[in-house]
Amino acid sequence: MSIRLKPNATIGIVGGGQLGRMTALAAARLGYRCHILTPEMDSPAEQVAAGITRGEYEDKAALRRFAAAVDVITFEFENVSAAGLDLLAALRPVRPSPAVLRISQDRVAEKRFVNQAGVATAPWVEVDSAEALDAAIARLGLPSVLKTTRLGYDGKGQALVRTPEAARAAFATLAPKPLILEGFVDFAMEVSVVVARGADGGIAAFEPVENRHRDHILDLTLAPARVGPETAAAADRVARRLAEALGLVGLLAVEMFVTQDGRVLVNEIAPRPHNSGHWTIDACPASQFELHVRAVAGLPLPPATRHSDAVMKNLVGPEEVALWPAILATPGLIGHLYGKAEARPGRKMGHVTRLFPRGALPGGFGLSDALGPLGARICPE
Ligand SMILES: Nc1ncnc2c1ncn2[C@@H]1O[C@H](COP(=O)(O)OP(=O)(O)O)[C@@H](O)[C@H]1O
Ligand SMILES: [Mg+2]
Repeated sequence: MSIRLKPNATIGIVGGGQLGRMTALAAARLGYRCHILTPEMDSPAEQVAAGITRGEYEDKAALRRFAAAVDVITFEFENVSAAGLDLLAALRPVRPSPAVLRISQDRVAEKRFVNQAGVATAPWVEVDSAEALDAAIARLGLPSVLKTTRLGYDGKGQALVRTPEAARAAFATLAPKPLILEGFVDFAMEVSVVVARGADGGIAAFEPVENRHRDHILDLTLAPARVGPETAAAADRVARRLAEALGLVGLLAVEMFVTQDGRVLVNEIAPRPHNSGHWTIDACPASQFELHVRAVAGLPLPPATRHSDAVMKNLVGPEEVALWPAILATPGLIGHLYGKAEARPGRKMGHVTRLFPRGALPGGFGLSDALGPLGARICPE
């Protein structure tokens, strides 16, 4: 079904977080309204949206009211139930499709899909019992990473296990079951590619970027990733292949490990705007959010080019958001705040971007230099 949204049409976004907020801002610039579905009060997305349906994602009446208020539906939040999505999809076009969302909601379905598309991941085994755990350890060895298959984010719902005892203890606490055991990848770098695919099958992919995590939360993204051309091309190929194989209409972020010997392994995929793509707002003529809106609206996709290199630093929790006045006072730092009233530890409150001339980022400057005078405070290293 090919639709092209007319100006002033309404895009429904399931989820009220910062990804929805930045999507709504990009949609507004293209002449669209956004209408948010969220159970939260005063969510980051609704603060900048034209409308809101407040309700639980499983509440059928709320889902129906939401669908009736919009022309097309997308999501910024992956943990909507399959039944909820099917209800929405019966009422309005949902982009990306519920089938795509289902794959990304479940680490086993996701890894199976990725491997079937001919793309490598870390070795993995589904684990639904203590016996299956022992067998999985015998196959993959230790250390490995035991994860829930659903509802994990920012490193929650997973444990790095180094001994069989630790694995059994983690098995006892991680929920819901089943779990997945993945071989531990001693990666040289984590990279990601954000790729958009339009309703006409056209594809645009941003260059691979380099991601650094702190306490399992994305801390820094460097664009482009400091990898060789073969690795960059391999990551790009993987992202395009997965977008095609999914029949994606919308945006897909592909998180990958680059191994010590330069191979690319897919870690996970997310069919929505991604934290590692926030730099595109400031460094690209059309950001990941604009590409997302265009794909969802059935508009043509512009190329995913960048005019600058960039470093993006997340502002996580009360300590980092406390840097906001200093960020505002520092020329060259581009600040973004998400409108969250409460700065809990580990909560993503905003981000800051610094641009560099194209080609200036690769090379050996220290990360603490990357954010200018604030670097030493923002990324002590
Ligand atoms: N198999 C693995 N080997 C090594 N590190 C891993 C592995 N799986 C996850 N990690 C580390 O944990 C982080 C979070 O894991 P991920 O599967 O992406 O879950 P989340 O849904 O929390 O983002 C990854 O970005 C990576 O740094
Ligand atoms: Mg991840």
